[in-house]
Amino acid sequence: MDTYILGIESSCDETSVSIVKNGCDEIATVILSQMDTHSTFGGVVPEIASRMHVENITIVVEECLKKANMKMEDIDAIAVTYGPGLIGCLLVGCSLAATLSYIYNKPLVPVHHIAGHIYANNLVSKMEFPLIALVVSGGHTDLIYMEDNYKFKKIGGTLDDAVGECYDKVARVIGVPYPGGPLVDKLSYKGNDTYPLPMPLDDDTYNFSFSGIKSAVINLVHNELQRGNEIRKEDIACSFQNRVVDILTKKTIRALKEYNVKNLIIAGGVSANSGIRNKFTEICNKEGIKLTIPNIKYCTDNAAMIACAGYFAYKKGIRADLDLKAEATVSLF
Ligand code: KG4
Ligand code: ZN
Repeated sequence: MDTYILGIESSCDETSVSIVKNGCDEIATVILSQMDTHSTFGGVVPEIASRMHVENITIVVEECLKKANMKMEDIDAIAVTYGPGLIGCLLVGCSLAATLSYIYNKPLVPVHHIAGHIYANNLVSKMEFPLIALVVSGGHTDLIYMEDNYKFKKIGGTLDDAVGECYDKVARVIGVPYPGGPLVDKLSYKGNDTYPLPMPLDDDTYNFSFSGIKSAVINLVHNELQRGNEIRKEDIACSFQNRVVDILTKKTIRALKEYNVKNLIIAGGVSANSGIRNKFTEICNKEGIKLTIPNIKYCTDNAAMIACAGYFAYKKGIRADLDLKAEATVSLF
């Protein structure tokens, strides 16, 4: 029998609801992005984000059901992001999910946001275990070994900034407006790798460190400006992106070999990065590794990924009570 999960995601600035069948078939997804509103402020304003979720979330649920041509009665369980994220934003999704669960007598399934990003890959191709997941987002940079569904073992991660956070900071320093990451990515193709930026934490662990490369960019820009030189934004973007891609590929490929894994999945907002997508595709083809990356639309926050992860959590018997607590910081491990 088919299982239909209604997923709800509201951890940051996207209000999203989706219905997914059996953890892999997307029936309908609605994503309402608040990006235009926040871009005026140069970043997400938590209070505004929460209020916008409140205003929109029930409309998004109705729209999603209409798009799927389904009723709440057809849904088997409700999955919701309970953390990590902006607490006020998470609360809106959790309250709605608990209310729907109570009214329609449906099981309530809590989903960790990063589990969601990982399972966005199940919409592309069935995840084959064991696998290595490289999670690269605004708040996370983790290398994860998965022996089976819903078994997450961290083998390495960032010791300081997340890679997306670093992209956004570099963007600000070189005067690229919000949202910085995607624009630095685009800019990098117009430049050359001319600036000698350091290779970040090039050691034999699976950990990452991006604060050094961020500081190197900041110092470089300040020094050039002090000397009255013009900064070549395109070249900085290109040099920065190349170093980031180099270190991510180097450590990930080593992990695949050491753990003898034939499936690599990449997840999180920064998996939309074209440098990462191109370089990993090239290396995985050469090494005979199956590579899965979500479609661009599902790299950043969306509820389809929450419904996918929610299906596997549901099958594992993971449930929340109606007093499900939203958590701003919570580990997946
Ligand atoms: O996964 P996500 O939506 O948020 C978190 O869960 O943290 O990721 C957002 C992050 C932002 O830092 C954004 O700048 C970055 O992903 N990002 C990119 C690209 N697209 C989004 N960074 C580099 N290149 C991109 N193309
Ligand atoms: Zn995210």
